[in-house]
Amino acid sequence: MRKVIIDTDPGQDDAVAILAALASPEDFDVLGICSVAGNVPLHHTTRNSLQLVELAGSRVPVYAGCSRPMVKELVTAEYVHGPTGLDGADLPDPHREPEATHAVDFLVETLGAAEPRSVTLCTLGPLTNVGMALVRAPEIADSVESIVAMGGGFFEGGNVTPAAEFNIYVDPHAAHVVFTSGIPITLMPLDVTHKALASERRVAPFRELGTAAGDSVAGMLTFFDRHDMEKYGADGAPLHDPTTVAYLIDPDLFAGRRCHVEIVRDGPAEGMTMIDWWMVTGNEPNAMVMNVVDSDGFFTLLLERISRL
Ligand code: RIB
Ligand code: CA
Repeated sequence: MRKVIIDTDPGQDDAVAILAALASPEDFDVLGICSVAGNVPLHHTTRNSLQLVELAGSRVPVYAGCSRPMVKELVTAEYVHGPTGLDGADLPDPHREPEATHAVDFLVETLGAAEPRSVTLCTLGPLTNVGMALVRAPEIADSVESIVAMGGGFFEGGNVTPAAEFNIYVDPHAAHVVFTSGIPITLMPLDVTHKALASERRVAPFRELGTAAGDSVAGMLTFFDRHDMEKYGADGAPLHDPTTVAYLIDPDLFAGRRCHVEIVRDGPAEGMTMIDWWMVTGNEPNAMVMNVVDSDGFFTLLLERISRL
């Protein structure tokens, strides 16, 4: 069982990742969930995090984080996720509030007190909270076992601009801090998430669970699907964020290559993850970049975990 902190901007795909993690006590000791502005503004991502923790029947604390990127103005994605970020699910108002501690302070304090390489960070949104924590206290990097991050793209290009994927595009400066921190990184870019499509035949079994969690997941994925299905003409939307949690549970579901990843921070390609897949730069690899997934195995794992709630 590993200690993990989830940093997130729920978002329907974040929601499935959070629920699967909270349904897996044999795999994770979730120390906290840190909300960040991304898909929708911070007040929504924080409220959504609280709702999801309650849907999972968990008491894991939620820490509200940064309301905007380090340098750029905030760019959100209501056009994909709806105005609340969890459209498609009809969740009750949360009974709890976020903790009084800011997410950046929680990261600095928790990692500052942790044993070396003892805490895994699972990042599902823009890297603002983690980047800010590393700027404030670079020494916390020694306590991080690894960062498993959804973000970036290479052969798949971008989903916000031709070059940039949303999580990196929103805060390329924070991503640069993270990718130059020396912390071991496992990256789930669009090159792998676009192979894990939430088609109707994969969403239906969640609905057939007949549970509040199953209904919420089915409703969210049905809502989430429509944008990317129109955009890509695919039979489902890529289920981006849960790839991180699935990797931590069963890494054999994925394959990839260690590469050097550089974050482009300005110009028309701002937010691009320049992934040296063919190792032409001679730069030392700083990330394990995944591009293969057993997509049926991935959905089977998610269904089994969500069925526990
Ligand atoms: O580009 C996909 C990523 O951006 C996912 O994490 C999604 O939730 C949004 O945050
Ligand atoms: Ca996300």
